[in-house]
Amino acid sequence: MGKVSNFRNNTGDTTVPWAAVGENYNVHDVMEIVRFLMQGEGTEYETALSAVRENIAKLDAVSTPPGRLSLGSKVEEAEEAASKYLGTDYSLFVTNCTSGFEIAYKYANLQPGDEVIVPAITFFATMAYPLSLGVKMIFADVDPITLNMDPKDVAKKITSKTKMIVPVHIGGYPVDMDPILELARKHNILVLEDAAHAFGGKYKGRMAGTMGDFGAYSFHEVKNITSFGEGGIAVSNVPGFKDHMKRARFFGVDTDYQIKDWIYDVRTIPGKEKPFVAVNYSTTEIQALGLSLQIARVEEIIAARRKAAEYLNSRLAGNPALICQDLGNDEIKPTFHLYQLQVVPEIAGGDVQVLKRKLGEKGVTTIPHFGPLYRFQATQQMGYDADEIAKTCPVCEEVFHHRFTHLPLYGLTEEQFEYMADAILEAIDEMQKGI
Ligand SMILES: Cc1ncc(COP(=O)(O)O)c(C=O)c1O
Repeated sequence: MGKVSNFRNNTGDTTVPWAAVGENYNVHDVMEIVRFLMQGEGTEYETALSAVRENIAKLDAVSTPPGRLSLGSKVEEAEEAASKYLGTDYSLFVTNCTSGFEIAYKYANLQPGDEVIVPAITFFATMAYPLSLGVKMIFADVDPITLNMDPKDVAKKITSKTKMIVPVHIGGYPVDMDPILELARKHNILVLEDAAHAFGGKYKGRMAGTMGDFGAYSFHEVKNITSFGEGGIAVSNVPGFKDHMKRARFFGVDTDYQIKDWIYDVRTIPGKEKPFVAVNYSTTEIQALGLSLQIARVEEIIAARRKAAEYLNSRLAGNPALICQDLGNDEIKPTFHLYQLQVVPEIAGGDVQVLKRKLGEKGVTTIPHFGPLYRFQATQQMGYDADEIAKTCPVCEEVFHHRFTHLPLYGLTEEQFEYMADAILEAIDEMQKGI
């Protein structure tokens, strides 16, 4: 552990130590945590819980609490596990993926009037920070099959004011990065990969999220793996920047330097053109432990998701009214975070809005997930004209309103998958018959 995050916990060899944490968790709290993580009811559950309670009480007498709860060795271990998996020099565990983006956006020294290109369809998180700064967001149209940013449209929308391009690996399907990286190199533009869905995705032998200048992954509870509900990993390829990542997570506190009569200095972080002030994106030891445990089985999880996607394709792909999730190939390995289904309205006799209504009636959840960023009130209040932007994103408009939805892909039984596939085929049949 570097000195930076140690200063609060240890000020040297002492007879009277500085307490590492405030109040510790006690037997009662630990029991409640177990009960929260493994919920149940009934006599059998209560009996099993009593046995755990007795043993936790025994453990209490022979154990000591952890010395640290924030930014300790568990955070380091999770970062090492992430780096090993991703093949990166360094990974920074932060509060969430959006914090990882913020470090990259701050590095870019964005000013009002600068332009940042994002895909028209993604989660609001992709652009929240630059939008809040008054940066001009430019919306790239999407590929009609993958829904990822279309590099050809990005090329058309680059101007002398473009500072960043932010490809988003939607649903964990890798963006076609080569043309984007080439455009960025040619125009001296930074690339931030929104890899919120893509931990474990691969593009031509490279890990999604590790190809641009910056990348960030999400471990929010709905993602393929989680760190107790929230968390993110940030990575960077900017030469020398990894040495500043830890300080960029915690105010820029630097114990290698001291102001007079104090044990540390607070220093800025070098940005592309000028330094910036860091804020606080610290993570806890318990989140880090959760992340390490799940990174250890991420490949298994992706394989299970792939298997489910293969099953759905085996049932649905033969129907000309449907376009199924692209499963990738030797060069493209998705993470199957989302299963994307598209309707071909001309053949189905109705569009995805009809299909979604019918699936709802049959008890099948669909997950629309992402709307065009320019349609939200927050975007419009920042001065964007949705209808004007829509004219520059015709594919987004068509696929969003008429063609695509996401289906649940994880944690279902074989019977539930079978029921879902049956329901979709039945719904399409009804649509074609005009029922
Ligand atoms: C595409 C995309 N980008 C970014 C994020 C933000 O991730 P986090 O909630 O970890 O900040 C999400 C979260 O759902 C997302 O779907």
